[in-house]
Amino acid sequence: MSIETIATRPIDGQKPGTSGLRKQTAVFQGPHFLENFVQSIWAGIGGAAGKTLVLGGDGRYFNAEAAQVVLRMAAAEGVAKVIVGQNALLSTPAASHLIRKRGTDGGIILSASHNPGGPDGDFGVKFNTPNGGPAPESVTTAIFEATKTLTEYRILTAQDVDLGTPGTLALGDMKVEVVDPVADYALLMEQIFDFDALRALFAGGFRLRFDAMHAVTGPYAKAILEDRLGAPAGSVVNGTPLPDFGKGHPDPNPIWAKTLVDEMMSRDAPDFGAASDGDGDRNMIMGRGIYVTPSDSLAALAANASLIPAYAGGLKGVARSMPTSRALDRVAADMGLDCYETPTGWKFFGNLLDSGRITLCGEESAGTGSDHVREKDGLWAVLAWLNILAKRDMPVKALMEDHWARFGRNYYSRHDYEGVDATIANAIMDDLRTRLPDLPGQEVNGLTIEAADEFAYDDPVDGSRTEAQGLRIDLTGGARIVLRLSGTGTVGATIRVYLEKVDTQVLDRDAQDALADVVAAAESLTGLRVKTGRAAPDVIT
Ligand code: G1P
Ligand code: ZN
Repeated sequence: MSIETIATRPIDGQKPGTSGLRKQTAVFQGPHFLENFVQSIWAGIGGAAGKTLVLGGDGRYFNAEAAQVVLRMAAAEGVAKVIVGQNALLSTPAASHLIRKRGTDGGIILSASHNPGGPDGDFGVKFNTPNGGPAPESVTTAIFEATKTLTEYRILTAQDVDLGTPGTLALGDMKVEVVDPVADYALLMEQIFDFDALRALFAGGFRLRFDAMHAVTGPYAKAILEDRLGAPAGSVVNGTPLPDFGKGHPDPNPIWAKTLVDEMMSRDAPDFGAASDGDGDRNMIMGRGIYVTPSDSLAALAANASLIPAYAGGLKGVARSMPTSRALDRVAADMGLDCYETPTGWKFFGNLLDSGRITLCGEESAGTGSDHVREKDGLWAVLAWLNILAKRDMPVKALMEDHWARFGRNYYSRHDYEGVDATIANAIMDDLRTRLPDLPGQEVNGLTIEAADEFAYDDPVDGSRTEAQGLRIDLTGGARIVLRLSGTGTVGATIRVYLEKVDTQVLDRDAQDALADVVAAAESLTGLRVKTGRAAPDVIT
């Protein structure tokens, strides 16, 4: 075995986005692409020599090969030890937990989250810091800067490491510890939730359907829900991780998890339905005859958190990303909790969680989590719901109706326009941005604009400021329109339009109907459909 130094040159486009570097798989497989980025990670974190790191991924196509490259580069760099999930698998929340539990210097997660996988799909790499959370802007910027000046990288010439069996191996001078990806995580869940109550729930005939979408949560869900909690075998479907996710789109929303939605809306639906994404950090929650929006789920979890043992002592505070509906704010106001509004992306919750300002947080994009790790956590959200349902002993639908009756209902939807020409998308944003100062007081489609600005966030913990985080327009009566460009797409631009409206009287409307005037106002303000030539959004969630 010898360390080789390979000459390279900077590759354009290695700027980490909302959640790490995400590209088409073929791009990642291109000459030096992965190696350049990994070497830049070492530079961006102030060197890797002597450090202990965690490594794992969501099992998508190229996961296994990329893991071997990372290991050989870590060995060449003098990393002391890498803790790897068996077969290079780790869900994102499990990786976050392992980074924290073992007191490591951080970790590398191989995942493009909910993006499709395979040779024609996407791949991604992200670095998480020692707190277990996604690297903050300061670190991702340092990594990006390093990609721009790179001239060489180092890699060990060696055979592939056998990651198939737990145990400790050597790669050059570096230790490689292969661990069961599920065990530590399952133990953590047992410490948070009332497993006895959950066992009793399933013993009483409660029916669950968990769709793992052929992604990484399958083994976790089977081990916890079926083996430990006694949900009948077969409650977890699509539970075997596949490199191409069975040709599916592992994004747990009503579009991509349609089979589950149809089942939950049928007459003989199970009591509870849920799904998770490629790397296990997202969740979708359903009850018989009801889809719970992620924003509502977050609000309901906050309102009922005291029923969960780990949160029985009360919440320190709560947070949501800016475009997430303000249902959470209503709960926080009622309970006297601080409620923070952060930019899109889990990394912005890190400081709030670390400093003990918040216990629960979430995003409208199916991400919910707590201070137990520093990532959103799909299975955690499912267990939290099950724990609450076990204690309240009522169906999901009744629970949400009760919630809206108490707090009012924030009708909410996100409309995505995907693969838009980037020049057109930027022009739409620029045009609206320029007009923001003149909008307050104007009327649009019968709704009065009360405020309009571009969201900037001042982190209360480290004082950093993050600008240009989305255009927001507040309308009469708590209605709101938010526009931002996606930071995770890999082809063209994706425009996201977030629509919201509060009703404290009529609580059982269809969300799209309830939001029709807000949707019309958004179109009048932006001319988005005309300018993009699209008759309707590509995805409505
Ligand atoms: C999307 C979601 C965002 C989430 C991110 C990573 O980012 O909107 O909430 O944190 O994926 O899962 P976007 O594509 O909007 O930048
Ligand atoms: Zn994900």
